[in-house]
Amino acid sequence: MTTSASDIRQAFLDYFGRNGHRVVDSSPLVPRNDPTLMFTNAGMVQFKNVFTGQEKRPYSRAATSQKCVRAGGKHNDLDNVGYTARHHTFFEMLGNFSFGDYFKEEAIPLAWNLITKEYGLPKDKLWVTVYHDDDQAFNLWKKVAGLPDERIVRIATSDNFWAMGDTGPCGPCSEIFYDHGDKVWGGPPGSPEADGDRYIEIWNLVFMQYEQVTKEERINLPKPSIDTGMGLERITAVMQGKHDNYDIDLMRGLIEASAEFSKAGADGEHKVSHRVIADHLRSSCFLIADGVLPSNEGRGYVLRRIMRRAMRHAQLMGCKEPLMHRLVPSLVSAMGRAYPELGRAEALIAETLKLEETRFKQTLERGLKLLDEATTGMGKGDMLPGETAFRLYDTFGFPLDLTQDALRNRGINVNLDGFQAAMQAQREEARKAWAGSGEAATEKVWFEIKEEKGATEFLGYDTESAEGRIEAIIVGGQRVETAETGAQVALLLNQTPFYAESGGQVGDTGRIITATGAEIEIADTQKKLGALHAHIGVVKKGKVAMGDLAQLIVDHARRTRVRSNHSATHLLHAALRRKLGDHVTQKGSLVSAERLRFDISHPKAVSTDEIAAVEAEVNDIVRQNDAVATRLMTPDEAIAAGAMALFGEKYGDEVRVLSMGKLPDGVDYSVELCGGTHVKRTGDIALFKIVGEGAVASGVRRIEALTGEAARDYFLEAEHTLRSAADALKAQPREVPQRLTALLDEKRKLERELSDLRKQLATGGGSGGPQVQEINGIKLAARKLDGVPAKDLRGMADAIKKEIGSGVVALISAVDGKVSAVVGVTPDLAGRADAASFIKLITPLIGGQGGGGRQDFAQGGGADPAGADAALQALADALAKI
Ligand code: ALA
Repeated sequence: MTTSASDIRQAFLDYFGRNGHRVVDSSPLVPRNDPTLMFTNAGMVQFKNVFTGQEKRPYSRAATSQKCVRAGGKHNDLDNVGYTARHHTFFEMLGNFSFGDYFKEEAIPLAWNLITKEYGLPKDKLWVTVYHDDDQAFNLWKKVAGLPDERIVRIATSDNFWAMGDTGPCGPCSEIFYDHGDKVWGGPPGSPEADGDRYIEIWNLVFMQYEQVTKEERINLPKPSIDTGMGLERITAVMQGKHDNYDIDLMRGLIEASAEFSKAGADGEHKVSHRVIADHLRSSCFLIADGVLPSNEGRGYVLRRIMRRAMRHAQLMGCKEPLMHRLVPSLVSAMGRAYPELGRAEALIAETLKLEETRFKQTLERGLKLLDEATTGMGKGDMLPGETAFRLYDTFGFPLDLTQDALRNRGINVNLDGFQAAMQAQREEARKAWAGSGEAATEKVWFEIKEEKGATEFLGYDTESAEGRIEAIIVGGQRVETAETGAQVALLLNQTPFYAESGGQVGDTGRIITATGAEIEIADTQKKLGALHAHIGVVKKGKVAMGDLAQLIVDHARRTRVRSNHSATHLLHAALRRKLGDHVTQKGSLVSAERLRFDISHPKAVSTDEIAAVEAEVNDIVRQNDAVATRLMTPDEAIAAGAMALFGEKYGDEVRVLSMGKLPDGVDYSVELCGGTHVKRTGDIALFKIVGEGAVASGVRRIEALTGEAARDYFLEAEHTLRSAADALKAQPREVPQRLTALLDEKRKLERELSDLRKQLATGGGSGGPQVQEINGIKLAARKLDGVPAKDLRGMADAIKKEIGSGVVALISAVDGKVSAVVGVTPDLAGRADAASFIKLITPLIGGQGGGGRQDFAQGGGADPAGADAALQALADALAKI
């Protein structure tokens, strides 16, 4: 007979594996496929849509050992834990499943064989129950197990009808009980003493036949199926000859660790506390490993309550220092093989527990003192006013159940109505305060929703698709019940994998598909009042209605690029500080799917060499491919740990701290406070390229960069450009710079030669000197040119002036129908000849106006090349007259 809990778990999976079942990993504790559940509370949760036919899997039989948490919601065991033999917040459910494959006739023999042959439980200790009208199951038990009629008990109540929650697959069930013997008080199921502890249910076989669609409507499943659940802790207790689940090896190991570190005996007066701690340690660690972190809302709040309940028990035992985090290694060594996620998250778990306990200790002492004062003189049966409980909750972070637990020993109850009333009164106050704060009226609707529904639970750190329930539909700023095809909507769901724009990271896009077939294309996700994720988009198909369950699917490709750009931004930040200096601080940041933009304080341009060094270092860290670590800390601790925080930014009580990359000495390369979504390993960034550097304001530089595929596209385009240039030059790409330099040199040389040739032409050709006439004793060199650009004329005129020594030069040149004219007069002729008046004679004749200059040089232009001869003649005539 196998004995350890680990062996029993393994034997179960092996047995069903041998019998044609696919052994499937436990699904996470946060259900991705069911918005109605707070936590996975049974083995069948991950298969819910397989039972209903919505999802297909490549197997029709499966077996699992499923992590379950029951705390909050339908199956809530929190308050009893520690005080009873079999209540847990965390437990493992062993189960076998048939998806339309086998039904009762095979499920019953499979179960019976396992417990009697594999596990070797004595048949005479076993009892079973069936739903009162299930003759088939009754007869099968009789035939397969050979049980006498009186040990097959018909039960008419909901005890033998199992449902996952208010909706979902369900069906009648048949339970197997173990008789712990007459030393324990109790009677068989269905008897008046059934509540006693002698006969313990060990295995529940559910004959899944129906789906509860709404509270009122129940339909048949496509095919009858099987879902079974056997608590590992219970079956282990039976096989280890224990009556109490807390006495099995698995729990005992944790209790002993708790006793060792608290220095309080395991079985003495602190027995309950050790049990609470052992149980709550398991749920806390597994929840954190699955991405839940303590907070004041939703799942995070349930986790916080569980953690704080355990921490109060540590305090009751007189622990001065935080205890819980010291127990993590014991848990990892006991369960880490079966659930590798525990080991992977060990550091995060330990830090989170330690932080919570350190902070909680401070408030606990003050809170308990207040509770003591408030209850002096009270005794059994007395009632603590609800207002006091609320004050403890509000001021000291005492969850209500912690107050109840603290008073339980003394038999004092809490006035729950009073507690609710105090809570309501506080909400009213908040509403009034808000009404006076002058916020825009359009935000009113969001305020109401926030008050009603609380913050949206964000699942997007761990998943890109999940189910949610539509909790508000906003059209044109108003809440509506339904929205039809074509409507522009903002949707709010109880939970979502869609990241809402914040911290520079853009909001997610994607699709929402309701269970009724409506499709909404989400173009953006915005954060409202810091807590609500508003999915903004258009109804493409069907009609969306309040309360609809819906599948939310984030655009994976886009999110992947955003994630990579965000992580690269952190690395860029660190690299800039290392290369440019610690004066560099973040002035702004935009993380989109296309690129990242990062503004920093820096007094001058970042040089090309500096850019290259930053880029190289970031790419080094990318290639390190280290896992990106997320931890939860207080802002002060995070900053003390070297995290870069934004000055003036408001942070909550707890912040996520991201570390990436390692320096050679093992120190984290980048540590930042950040709520964004990030890559798993730096290698996911693939490639980092800075593509822009410039000024945005005085002392602020903007850097733009690309990662991954976008960086690759950038290089591809650059390569393509280079290749086109090389082709045009008929050269190899690497020869392009040299060839271009040579071409430019040659061009300059040719231009020079051309200009010289033109000058020679203008001045009459190299040999004969300028052609000059003499009028009135004054030399006149007048030329009509073709195609000489205006900018060259002055140089030519000067050259001719030099050549003739004294006289007048006039040049007229036409280029593309435009005529330019210059007149030069040597200075010795001042008083006799004036270039500025000569140009005024010329320009009207070449179709222009005016023109101007000084005595020694003047220029003008026109649009009539045909007038050039007449113009030069006019100048000659004028000279003749002076
Ligand atoms: N889903 C059934 C249960 O949780 C087996 O009991």
